[in-house]
Amino acid sequence: MAELSFNGRVVVVTGAGAGLGKSYALLFASRGASVVVNDLGGGRSGDGSSTKAADAVVQEIRSKGGKAVPNYDSVVDGEKIIQTALDNFGRVDVVINNAGILRDRSFARISDNDWNLILDVHLKGAFKVSQAAWPYFRKQNFGRIIVTSSCAGLLGNFGQANYSAAKMALVGLSNTLAIEGRKNNINCNVLVPTAASRLTEDILPPDLYNELKPELIAPVVLWLCHESCNETGSIIESAAGWAAKVQVVRGAGSLLRKSITDIVTPEDVRDKWSAVTDMTNASSPGNIQESTVNLMIRLEGLKNPSNDSKFSEQYSDVFTYGYKEVILYALGIGSSVSINSDLKYLYESHENFSVFPTFGIIPAVISVMSNSAITNAIPNKTFDLSQVLHGEQYLEVLTSLPTEGKLKTECNVVDVLDKGKGAVIIVDADTYDENGNKVLYNQIVTFVVGAGNFNGKNQSTKIKLLANQPSRAPDYSFVDKTLIDQAAIYRLSGDLNPLHIDPNFSILAGHKTPILHGLCSLGFAVRHVLYKYANNNPSLFKAVKVRFTKPVLPGQTLKTDMWHENTRIHFQTSIVETKQTVLTGGYVELHSVQDSTSKLHLNRINADELNSNIIFDGMQDRINADPSLIKKINGIFVYNITKNNKPAATWTADLKTGKVYKGNPKEGIKPDTTLIIEDDDMVDMALGKLNPQVAFLKGKLKVKGNIMLAQKLRSLSMETKL
Ligand SMILES: *[C@@H]1O[C@H](CO)[C@@H](O)[C@H](O)[C@H]1NC(C)=O
Ligand SMILES: *[C@@H]1O[C@H](CO)[C@@H](O)[C@H](O)[C@H]1NC(C)=O
Ligand SMILES: *[C@@H]1O[C@H](CO)[C@@H](O)[C@H](O)[C@H]1NC(C)=O
Ligand SMILES: *[C@@H]1O[C@H](CO)[C@@H](O)[C@H](O)[C@H]1NC(C)=O
Ligand SMILES: *[C@@H]1O[C@H](CO)[C@@H](O)[C@H](O)[C@H]1NC(C)=O
Ligand SMILES: *[C@@H]1O[C@H](CO)[C@@H](O)[C@H](O)[C@H]1NC(C)=O
Ligand SMILES: *[C@@H]1O[C@H](CO)[C@@H](O)[C@H](O)[C@H]1NC(C)=O
Ligand SMILES: *[C@@H]1O[C@H](CO)[C@@H](O)[C@H](O)[C@H]1NC(C)=O
Ligand SMILES: *[C@@H]1O[C@H](CO)[C@@H](O)[C@H](O)[C@H]1NC(C)=O
Repeated sequence: MAELSFNGRVVVVTGAGAGLGKSYALLFASRGASVVVNDLGGGRSGDGSSTKAADAVVQEIRSKGGKAVPNYDSVVDGEKIIQTALDNFGRVDVVINNAGILRDRSFARISDNDWNLILDVHLKGAFKVSQAAWPYFRKQNFGRIIVTSSCAGLLGNFGQANYSAAKMALVGLSNTLAIEGRKNNINCNVLVPTAASRLTEDILPPDLYNELKPELIAPVVLWLCHESCNETGSIIESAAGWAAKVQVVRGAGSLLRKSITDIVTPEDVRDKWSAVTDMTNASSPGNIQESTVNLMIRLEGLKNPSNDSKFSEQYSDVFTYGYKEVILYALGIGSSVSINSDLKYLYESHENFSVFPTFGIIPAVISVMSNSAITNAIPNKTFDLSQVLHGEQYLEVLTSLPTEGKLKTECNVVDVLDKGKGAVIIVDADTYDENGNKVLYNQIVTFVVGAGNFNGKNQSTKIKLLANQPSRAPDYSFVDKTLIDQAAIYRLSGDLNPLHIDPNFSILAGHKTPILHGLCSLGFAVRHVLYKYANNNPSLFKAVKVRFTKPVLPGQTLKTDMWHENTRIHFQTSIVETKQTVLTGGYVELHSVQDSTSKLHLNRINADELNSNIIFDGMQDRINADPSLIKKINGIFVYNITKNNKPAATWTADLKTGKVYKGNPKEGIKPDTTLIIEDDDMVDMALGKLNPQVAFLKGKLKVKGNIMLAQKLRSLSMETKL
C-alpha cells in the first residue's frame, strides 16, 4: 500500500522543542507536512523563557528540505499559534496538543497556584489551541486533533494530583470533541505515551528510559492524524514500539432491590457488593445513550432476571388477573364507553362482562420478557434486551378467557434465524388454565439487532406466516384517534418499559417523544375488525397475526383498512396524520362473520364520515394544550366542508373563546370568516401539505368575510405538533 503522505497538510505541534513533540514535528515534516513548531522554550518546570528549543527543531526540519516555522506563544494563547499556521501556510489540518509541564508534590501540599498552572497548560491549552483551529476544520470538512493524556490520569499516581486531574480532564474533552466533530470529519483521539522526554528523564530507571524513544511513538500519532484513519473518540496507549486501545468498561452489575417499589438499604448494597464489583462480563458502553439505555433496562429488571432469584418471583410464568386487569387492558387499547357495545369490556357488573380477546397476549409477553429464553437463544452470543425489537405477533384463543383467573405460560424458542444484520428469534408460548387446559397459543417473533452472522439458517417452517392483503381497495376502513395518554394507560397492563412514558428515556432511545406500544396498536386494529365484522362479539375471535413496522405516537389517529375474505379479515393499519403504515400483513381469523356496522352505535368518528373531523378534534386538542395559540387569531370561523362538492359538514372554530364544535355558530355568535373546502383538501391543508394561498388561488378554498383573518389560521397548523 502507498506511503502515508501529509503533502499539503499543515500540522501544529505544541511543546515541540524536545522529546515527543520534536519527534512528531520531524516525522510529520518528513512526510510532507508544513509544521508549526510551538515551544515556549522554557525549562522543564515551565517558568523560564527562551526561543532556542523551537528554533533548533525548525532548523533541523529545514536542513532536511522540510517546511516549518517556529512559534513561541503559550498554549493558553492558542489563537496566536493557529494564526502562525494561517499566516505562513494558509490553513491548518492537524493539532497535536502535546505541551505539558510537571510539578510533583503530594496532594496535601498542592497550592492554588500549582493547581491552576497545571490545569492551564494541559487542559486550557488544549482547549484554546483546538478551539482556535475548530472553525477552519469545520469549514474544510477535515481535522485531526490529538490530546496527550497519561497513565497518571487514567490510573492516578502519587504526588500528581494536579497533573492527574488535568490529564483525565483531557480524556473527557477529547470524547466530546469526537462526538461534536463527527459530522465534519474531525477526529479527536487521546494518546497515552510513556516516552523518554524532558518530563520523564529523571523519573524512570535508565535501562527502561533507553527503550522509551519518542521515535517509537510518533508513527502512532501520524497514523491517527492521517486522512485515511477513521479512529475517533479513542484512547491509544503507546510505548517502546507497542500500542493498544484503552476503554472505560462497566461490569454487568447487580440489581439492589427486587421491585421498583422497594427501597435500597445500605445492607442491600453490602450483600450485593461482590456482584456490583464483579468485572467478569464487563463491556464498554460505547456512548452515553447506549450506556443509559442499558442502565434503564437493567433497572426495569428486564435483563436476564432469571439469574436473580428474588426477581424471578416477581415476574413468574404464573399470571393472576381479575376484573381490574381486564378493564385496564381494554382502556389501554382504546375501548370506550362512547361505543355502546364496548361497555361489556369496561364494567365488571355488566350482564355480558367480557375479556377483550387480545388480552391473551399479555400473559405470554410478560412470561417471555421475564424468561431468559430470548437472551440465551443464540449460542455464544450475548446481547441486551435493548437490541431486541418486537417484530411480529400471533395469538390464537383456544378457549375464551374468563374475567378472572390464574394462567401458566410455557415459552420455548422454536427457531433462531440468521438474517445477517440481526437474528430472528421465534418463541412459542403456550398458556394453560388452572385445570391444565391449553387456552392460548402465542408466537412472538423478535429481531435482535446486530446478533446475526453466526452461520445459522435463514428460513423457518415453524413461523406463522403473514398474509398478503388483497390488491383491491379496502372493503371498509375505521378511523380512531388514540389518546395522548394511551401509552400511559396501556403500559399498566405489563410492559413498563420507560420508552413509552419517560421523555428523557425516549430521547436517549432515539425517539423525540415516548412512543405507543406496538401491541396497543394491535389491540386498536383488532377492535376495529370486531366492530365491523363480528358485531363486537369477542367469542367470534379466533386468531390474529401482524407485523409491526413503525412506531405510533400517543395522540395520533389510526386508520385500519379491512378486506373481508370468508372468515379471514385482512387488515393494515396506518397513521392518518403521517400516512405511515404501522401494522402490515395482518389478518384476524373469525369463527364466523357478522357484518355489523349498521347495528353498532358508534358515537365516534368513523371512515364513513369525513376525514377532516379529526382535524377539528386535533385543533381543539392543541388549543386545550396551549390556549395562547389563539390569542393572535382572535376570530370566529365557520368551515363548510364539502364532499364531492356537496355540503357535508359545518364546523365552528370560535378562536376568541377557544371552542371548536360541529355545526353552525351558537346563537348570538357572528362568524368573521367562512371557509368552504373539500374534506380531503382540509386534511392536507391542516397537515401542511396544501398551502392555503395556493388552495385559494386554485379555487380549492373559498373564503367569505374577513380574508386577512384567515391568514392567521396557519399558526394552528397540525404540522407544528406532529
Ligand atoms: C502540581 O502540584 C504540585 C504540588 O503543589 C506542584 O509542586 C507542582 O508544581 C504542580 N504541577 C504543576 C505542573 O504546576
Ligand atoms: C474504519 O476503517 C476500517 C478500515 O481501516 C474499516 O474496516 C471500518 O469499517 C471503518 N469504520 C468506519 C466507522 O468507517
Ligand atoms: C457472564 O456471562 C456469562 C455468559 O452470559 C454467564 O454465564 C455468567 O454467569 C456471567 N458472569 C457474571 C459474573 O455475570
Ligand atoms: C448469577 O449471578 C451470580 C452472581 O450474582 C453468578 O455467580 C452466577 O454465575 C449467575 N448465574 C447464572 C445462571 O447466570
Ligand atoms: C348480553 O348478551 C345477550 C346475548 O347476546 C344479549 O341478548 C343481551 O342484550 C346482552 N346484554 C346487554 C346488557 O347488552
Ligand atoms: C460456543 O463456544 C464454546 C467455547 O468456545 C465452543 O466449544 C462451542 O462449540 C461454541 N458453540 C457454538 C454453537 O458455536
Ligand atoms: C438463505 O440461505 C440460503 C442457503 O444458505 C441462501 O441461498 C439464500 O440466499 C439465503 N437467503 C437470504 C434472504 O439471505
Ligand atoms: C428529565 O431530565 C430533566 C433534566 O435532567 C429532569 O429535570 C427531569 O426531572 C427528568 N424527567 C424525568 C421524568 O425523569
Ligand atoms: C355554510 O353552511 C351553512 C350550513 O349548511 C349555511 O347555512 C351557510 O350559508 C354556508 N355558508 C356559506 C358561505 O356557504
